[in-house]
Amino acid sequence: MTSTPPAAPAAPPVPLRTQLTRRKPVERLVADAGAGDGGRLRRTLGVGHLTMISIGATLGTGIFVVLGEAVPVAGPAVVVSFVLAGVIALLSALSYAELAGMIPAAGSSYSYSYATLGELAAWVCGWCLILEYGVSVAAVAVGWGQYVNELLDAVLGVTIPDAWSQPPGDGGHFNLPALVVVVLATLVLLRGVTESARVNAAMVVVKVLALLLFCAVAFTAFRAGNLSPLFPLGLAGMSSGAATLFFSYIGFDAASTAGEEARDPQRDLPRAILLSLGIVTVLYCLVALAAVGALPWRQFEGTEAALARIVDGAGGGSVVVGLLSLGAVVAIASVVLTVLYGQIRILFAMSRDGLVPPLFARVDRRTGVPRANTLVVGLFVSLLAASVPLGELANATSIGTLFAFALVNVAVLVLRRTRPELPRAFRVPFAPVVPVLGALLCGYAMLSLGTSTWIVFVGWMALGLALYAGYGRHHSRLHATPATAAVRQE
Ligand code: ALA
Repeated sequence: MTSTPPAAPAAPPVPLRTQLTRRKPVERLVADAGAGDGGRLRRTLGVGHLTMISIGATLGTGIFVVLGEAVPVAGPAVVVSFVLAGVIALLSALSYAELAGMIPAAGSSYSYSYATLGELAAWVCGWCLILEYGVSVAAVAVGWGQYVNELLDAVLGVTIPDAWSQPPGDGGHFNLPALVVVVLATLVLLRGVTESARVNAAMVVVKVLALLLFCAVAFTAFRAGNLSPLFPLGLAGMSSGAATLFFSYIGFDAASTAGEEARDPQRDLPRAILLSLGIVTVLYCLVALAAVGALPWRQFEGTEAALARIVDGAGGGSVVVGLLSLGAVVAIASVVLTVLYGQIRILFAMSRDGLVPPLFARVDRRTGVPRANTLVVGLFVSLLAASVPLGELANATSIGTLFAFALVNVAVLVLRRTRPELPRAFRVPFAPVVPVLGALLCGYAMLSLGTSTWIVFVGWMALGLALYAGYGRHHSRLHATPATAAVRQE
């Protein structure tokens, strides 16, 4: 008879409250940086690449499309709306800069929340980031098809029929262009981070040049009289324009997801985040000024492709219109590339912590890319973009983003109090006023979003919490660590 060895004594169960509030110490987050299952991410990105990643993720539909929708709301004061939305973004960007310099982890605000507010808050934040990155990239890809059609129309006089450029429910079978742009971005990302950063940098140059070309042409038709009165719809119009335009600033945080692939993250991440926001704000204000100076604001109402119409009216001709459409196609493709990249890195960090399956943290030794993660995300996003009408879900991306931004502001406040001694490459000026203001403004902007958006958001959160209860809570790496170490008061 064989005797079975006595079973090892079962580990004492971790109380629920401890599970939900356990925190990952900053030192452990920093020590984990770069390490994946089977290989390491590569530190190859400099400040230029990082800045380009943030500009790549930011500059897209907002300036090419949403500007045209904001002018009828704000009048010529849309320029002021851009400044105001930029200031709101800046308050959170300062907090991102402080934390990204301190905790250069691929999980961005998910990791900052893990260090400060505990595992449940980190999971909720990571789940919101999937809205900001994964779902929004599908929505952006859907919009890309419309630009491809405009470009094809301007250059060749043909368009892709609705059946193949719209999802079921929106009058078609399948959104082929949306699928194509996500697949192309996935293929680029599989080649490696340096190659992806290079492709992105080239696309950023094209989109910035397209906008500068727009300014050059539109300023020739500038009439000062078009700017008067500056506030035809009052301050209320201007601020509701700012709320609409906040969307155009989303993405400045993308550099923070590259924290584990940056050569000198402590120094370069804060610079990249603030530099990209500065460049984008100046460009937005210039484009907005040129646009409302060239076309009376009332004529924006119901005008699709307002920028193209303006250059056409200013005598730019079809070549300039074609170049502008090309700029929009490239701009939105680079948003897809960089936002997809961010989503993959966030899941990588969550997987390394055990909150999502280990597959997402496996790094290919040859390319240094989390290959399976890239393939799964690419496949999922491409199918979502091709087959689902994303209208309402797309609105929910703003609410998820604002929530993540609010958490980052809170995380700055918490770490200033609990870990004042940690070295900070960048410090938010006038703390605690600036982070408090940042968090409050994000909360205010969330409240101003519609009921249907809130319903989608609450449903999304309920799904996320169910997944955490069923998987993450038990698989968390901190679950295996002695609870005392895991919840060490920082
Ligand atoms: N800021 C990004 C855009 O405007 C989301 O497309």
